[in-house]
Amino acid sequence: MSQLFGEGRIGGLQVENRIVVSPMCQYSAVEGTAQPWHLIHIGNLMMSGAGLVIMEATAVEDIGRGTLGCLGIYSDENERALAELVVTAKKLSTAKLGLQLTHAGRKAATRTIPDRWRGEPLPLDEGAWKPVAPSAICFDKHWQVPEELDEEGILRIIDAFACSAQRADRAGFDLIEIHGAHGYLIHNFLSPLSNRRSDKWGGSLENRMRFALEIVGAVRSVWPKEKAFGFRVNSTDWHPEGFSLDDAVIFAQALEQAGLDYVVMSAGNIAPGISIPPATPGHQVPFATSIKENTGLTAMAVGMIGRFEQAEAIIANDEADFVALARPMLDNPRWGIHAAAALGADIAYPPQYMRARPNNWLGFTYVHPEAKPPASTLQLDRPPSVAWDRPRDA
Ligand SMILES: Cc1cc2nc3c(=O)[nH]c(=O)nc-3n(C[C@H](O)[C@H](O)[C@H](O)COP(=O)(O)O)c2cc1C
Repeated sequence: MSQLFGEGRIGGLQVENRIVVSPMCQYSAVEGTAQPWHLIHIGNLMMSGAGLVIMEATAVEDIGRGTLGCLGIYSDENERALAELVVTAKKLSTAKLGLQLTHAGRKAATRTIPDRWRGEPLPLDEGAWKPVAPSAICFDKHWQVPEELDEEGILRIIDAFACSAQRADRAGFDLIEIHGAHGYLIHNFLSPLSNRRSDKWGGSLENRMRFALEIVGAVRSVWPKEKAFGFRVNSTDWHPEGFSLDDAVIFAQALEQAGLDYVVMSAGNIAPGISIPPATPGHQVPFATSIKENTGLTAMAVGMIGRFEQAEAIIANDEADFVALARPMLDNPRWGIHAAAALGADIAYPPQYMRARPNNWLGFTYVHPEAKPPASTLQLDRPPSVAWDRPRDA
C-alpha cells in the first residue's frame, strides 16, 4: 500500500495525500492582481493528483514584490481576484489550496525574467522602487543599496503580513505559508550575512529571529486554527558565517512554540558567490528529517524529488511528512496521477479526461516506461467502470 497516497494532516487541515505543489512565481500579475494565466496555471495543478497546491510568493505590500509581475495581496482588487480564483479552482478537484506570503526585501525591484536563474535589478527609468532590508547592504554589485528599515517600517511590515493573512482567509485559502528563505526580507533578518543591526532586531540569533517570530505571532492571532499555517525555512546559507542548520533547528523549535503547524526546508540564495554543494536528487530531504527529529512540527521536503519511487520512499521511511514538487509539476502537471498508477493507488481523475486515464489506454507505458500499473487495474478490454465516465463520443 502506497504511503505517499496515505492521508495526511497539517494542523487542522486534512490532506488527501502527501504530494504538494510547491509555490512557483509566475511573474504574470498586473499591479499585484491575478490574471487569467493564474487561474489556468493553478487550475491545471489542482488536477495534478497532488493533495495540496500552494500558490506562488505573494507580496504583503507593493514594495515587497520581487518584480512588477509578482502577485500581491495588499489591495481590495488583489483580494477580489484571488477570491474568484479560489472559488473556481476548488470546483476542479478536492485538493487543498494554499498561498505563500512574502516580502522580497533587498531582492525587490528586479526585472521580470522568469527564464533566468537569478533576477537582475530593474532600472529606475523602468519603474524600480527603493527596496528595504534590515541593513543597507546590497544583494550583489550593481544592485540597489536597500534602505535600512527603522522601527516604524518594521512594525508596518509585521502588520502587513497579518492584514494579508486576513485577506487570504477571506479569499478562501486553506493554508498560508510565510516565505522565510531564498534571500528575501525575513531571511535577510535571520542571516548574519545580511543583518548587521545592533538593536533588538539584529546581533544574536535570538534578535535575528525576532522579526520572523513577530510576524508568526501576528499572523497566528488572525489565521484560523482549523486551517494550516506554515513557514518556508532557510535550512542553511552554506556559508561559515551565515545561518546554519543548527540555527534552523533552534528557529524551528521557536516557530513550533509560536503555534506554527509545518515547515518546508529549503536553502541558499542569501548572496551570490557562495559555494553550494551540487544539487542532487532529494538533496534537501535531510533538512526536513532534522526537523522531524528535533521538533513536533509537520516537515515538508522540497528539491529535486522527481521520481515516484523516490517520493514514496521519503514518506515510507519517515524522512518527511510531505513532499513538495515544483519543476516536476510544471513539466508534468499530471505527475500525481501518474505516480498513483505507478504505485498502485486509486485517485480521482477529471471526468472530462477519463479516456486518457493511465490504466485506461495503452499509451500509459509510453508516458512512463518504468511505471508498473497495478495488475488489477490494467484491463484494457474492460471499459472504465467509474460512474463519471463519459459516453465515448461526448
Ligand atoms: C518557476 C519557479 C518559480 C518559483 N517560485 C517560488 C516561489 O514563489 N516561492 C518559493 O518559495 N519558491 C519558489 N520556487 C522554488 C520551488 O518552490 C522549489 O523550492 C525549487 O524549485 C526546488 O524544487 P524542485 O526541484 O521540485 O523544482 C520556484 C521555482 C520555480 C521553478
